[in-house]
Order: sequence, then C-alpha cells, then structure tokens
Amino acid sequence: MLIGIIGAGHIGSALAYLFSKGGHQVEIANSRGPETLSDLEKEYGDNVRAVTAEQAAGDGEVVVVTIPLGRYEELPAAELAGKTVIDTCNYYPSRDGHIAALDNGETTSSELIQRHLSGAHVVKAFNAMRYDHLREYGREGGAAQRYGIPVAGDDPAAKRQAMDLIEQVGFEPVDAGTLAQSRTFEPGADVYTADLWADDLRARIGIEAA
Ligand SMILES: NC(=O)c1ccc[n+]([C@@H]2O[C@H](COP(=O)([O-])OP(=O)(O)OC[C@H]3O[C@@H](n4cnc5c(N)ncnc54)[C@H](OP(=O)(O)O)[C@@H]3O)[C@@H](O)[C@H]2O)c1
Repeated sequence: MLIGIIGAGHIGSALAYLFSKGGHQVEIANSRGPETLSDLEKEYGDNVRAVTAEQAAGDGEVVVVTIPLGRYEELPAAELAGKTVIDTCNYYPSRDGHIAALDNGETTSSELIQRHLSGAHVVKAFNAMRYDHLREYGREGGAAQRYGIPVAGDDPAAKRQAMDLIEQVGFEPVDAGTLAQSRTFEPGADVYTADLWADDLRARIGIEAA
C-alpha cells in the first residue's frame, strides 16, 4: 500500500521506518519541503520518498498526520477528502497555543481535525506511545502478548484499515470507540504513554469493557 505521512519528526519517521520495513511504500512530508529530507530518504531506502504535504495527501491510500496540533489548519483538506487519515496529534498548549474548545473540554483534538478535514475519515491512533517505544516495541503476530495501541474513529471501514496497519507493525489495536471518546487516551489520561499490554488496555478503555 502507498502510505502518506505528513510530518517527518519523531513519530513521522518512526512510522516511516515501521511501514517501509513492513513492505509498504511511504511518501513523507514536512513543512519545509522534500529537499530537507534527503538524509531520511537515504537512511530508509527505496520504499521511502520525500514529497510535499499535498503530494503525500493526494497519493496516499492511507495518510498519517503527525504534526504539532497547533498547525492542524495547514493540513491539505482538499487532497485528503475521501481518505482514511490516521491522526497521531496531541494537544500541548505550551507548544500549540491555547485552543478554547479543547481547554473547556467541549471537543477532542481529533474531532477538531475531523472538522477541518470534513471529507476525510479521521482515525486517532499512534498518539499514546512514545516515538522510541513505537519504533522498538512491536512484536510478531504469534507473540504471547503484544502492546496495545488505542484506536478511535467514527467510520468503521477507516478504523478497520488503521487497525490492520497497527497489527502489521507488531501491535494489537484496541477499539476505544469514537473520536468523541478518544479523550480516554489523550494526554492526562492514565493509559497515555503507559505502554500497556493489549488485554490491560482493553480492560481499561476498550469499548467492549464500557
Ligand atoms: N514525540 C512523541 O513521542 C509523540 C508520541 C505520540 C504523539 N505525538 C504527537 O504527534 C505529533 C508529532 O509529534 P513529533 O514528536 O513527531 O513532532 P516533531 O518531532 O516536532 O515533528 C513535527 C513534524 O511536523 C512537521 N510539520 C509541521 N507543520 C507541518 C505542516 N503544516 N505540513 C507538513 N508538515 C508539518 C514538521 O516539519 P518542519 O520541521 O519542516 O516544520 C516536523 O517534521 C504531535 O502532535 C505530538 O504531540 C508525539
């Protein structure tokens, strides 16, 4: 599959590593332009190509958005229409500036992104584990236990697609409900960056457990 990644920092490059290792083609973008990503291209080899954000959005069958949340309105909404968009972004007011609707708990950060990307199917995932753990903690499918990755989304087909990718890179997806319910694994939640085995995570925030 061709996977677009918008954001080439800690999480974007960890996911480019995992997806390309799993045999996917990756197009990855930052805000400064593909020419600034030549080192990353060299490091990851032929399966990873640096492009513009618009290209990654337009070409990717699935597109990961992994940028500082404060810049979400820069995401190319037209190119992302109709796509499954995996959102890893978290809200940190000290970095992102204050967003009233998040400060007063009116909405979740993924719902804000979904509102901006109104034609896309946003799924929140890969936001609750540190980038270095994400890179290292994946395990083969037959492993007795795997770390859980919480997943939330309003479109079942898009959520399934994200869950399949999570499995492929060695983690167990845990269905945590809708985008409105994703606050259970946002910063401040007790499971956030807790690196829980999937069964434990499911017992705490899985929608089956609700
Ligand atoms: N670090 C973690 O362990 C971790 C874990 C889970 C979730 N997260 C969340 O995931 C998101 C990414 O985190 P990170 O640590 O990977 O951030 P990071 O290392 O600061 O990287 C951010 C990346 O986003 C790019 N970017 C910013 N605005 C953009 C735009 N409009 N279009 C395209 N690219 C843009 C930056 O490109 P330029 O440098 O060219 O501006 C940079 O490549 C954040 O919301 C963070 O809170 C982080």
